[in-house]
Amino acid sequence: MHSFIFIFLTILTLTPPALTGSRRWQPPLGSPSPEAKHQLDKRWMTINLPGTAAAARLDPRPWPNREITYCFADKTAKSKLKTALKKAMDLWYSGGLTNDYTIVEGSSHVCSSEDSRREVLMISYGDKLSTYVGYPDKNSRLVTDLGKGAYATWTDRKDIGMLSVVPNIAHELGHAWGLYHEHQNPYFWSSAYLADGGGGSVFGPGNNNWNCENLADYDKFADGKEISPGGGLPHQHYTRDQMCRSYRVASAANFSAAEYLPMAPYQAHTPMSIAADARMVDWDSIMIYPSGAGAKKGLDPPEETDGVKDDRLSILEKPPLDGEEGDMQRIPKNIIPSSGDIEAMNKLYGSVRVEKKGLLHERGSTKEKFKKAFLGSKDSSSCV
Ligand SMILES: *[C@@H]1O[C@H](CO)[C@@H](O)[C@H](O)[C@H]1NC(C)=O
Ligand SMILES: [Zn+2]
Repeated sequence: MHSFIFIFLTILTLTPPALTGSRRWQPPLGSPSPEAKHQLDKRWMTINLPGTAAAARLDPRPWPNREITYCFADKTAKSKLKTALKKAMDLWYSGGLTNDYTIVEGSSHVCSSEDSRREVLMISYGDKLSTYVGYPDKNSRLVTDLGKGAYATWTDRKDIGMLSVVPNIAHELGHAWGLYHEHQNPYFWSSAYLADGGGGSVFGPGNNNWNCENLADYDKFADGKEISPGGGLPHQHYTRDQMCRSYRVASAANFSAAEYLPMAPYQAHTPMSIAADARMVDWDSIMIYPSGAGAKKGLDPPEETDGVKDDRLSILEKPPLDGEEGDMQRIPKNIIPSSGDIEAMNKLYGSVRVEKKGLLHERGSTKEKFKKAFLGSKDSSSCV
């Protein structure tokens, strides 16, 4: 089972709302103060940082040379997703990502060669959003068992995630670079109720802001399921209630609650903040789900953002910050990576050597260019 490194979002709603306006891009936020930086340190959730003990395991890693080489699995994928992918990367730049992070389409030689398969992100077109997180270690099971490398299935549906194609792809691109969901940090979740929780106070029964029953596929699991979740949990029949409490159980059952529930600390690099309050969550992150993601319809009146109506019920909600009065609020659709997302990227890729990509890209044919790039990355992939 390698499902823990995939992020799926499958929404069963059928009628896309009309998309009548696009939100204006905001200018990048300034650098956080030293104090804010210290706080940011505690709240990222990324793949394991290079050089840490946890990263010595067979794990996904950061992409060599801060560059994702991608391939489209077929013509449909290319025609449906190519422009959106470029715009999605531009969203990252507009959020403050520097241009030493690049995405480049592989040549037809690279994209059809088994030898280079592990070194590219293979993108298919489908009706869901699903992305391998990070760059597979050359010894990882994904490589040895399946002979594959990183892959993604993306969609241009407008009735899913942030109800907008480019921000959705930008979120998926965050996964491809190595970021996990902001809201799945176990230190934000109540341990009293959630099997995989870590002892936070932001999400869970204390705040009553985890509305599992609003998930679009909730009704499908009324009878529970007989599954083997792994991780020391027995093969047995699990009830829906148990699926709403454990990431592992929900995952094994293919229940979308797995996109929300806290991941176990050993499954990702997770900051060791055990008393995370709502101030520690990056509510502006493009890696946090808006409240409606994956939810049943029925919100009345619907939420409206720049002319786009969202009548999906709330799954997770934002509690009032400590010391403040107020009600739970909908988590907004963050269509631009936040300064925290950028800081997380810079921390994750801080030790990744960057070659002079400008030169590499200018010289020679596309084919040569990629040959050179791959020679370089083969040498350097084990030292990231
Ligand atoms: C979950 O989905 C995977 C992949 O589609 C499938 O192989 C597996 O049998 C499913 N598990 C259950 C319990 O339905
Ligand atoms: Zn996601």
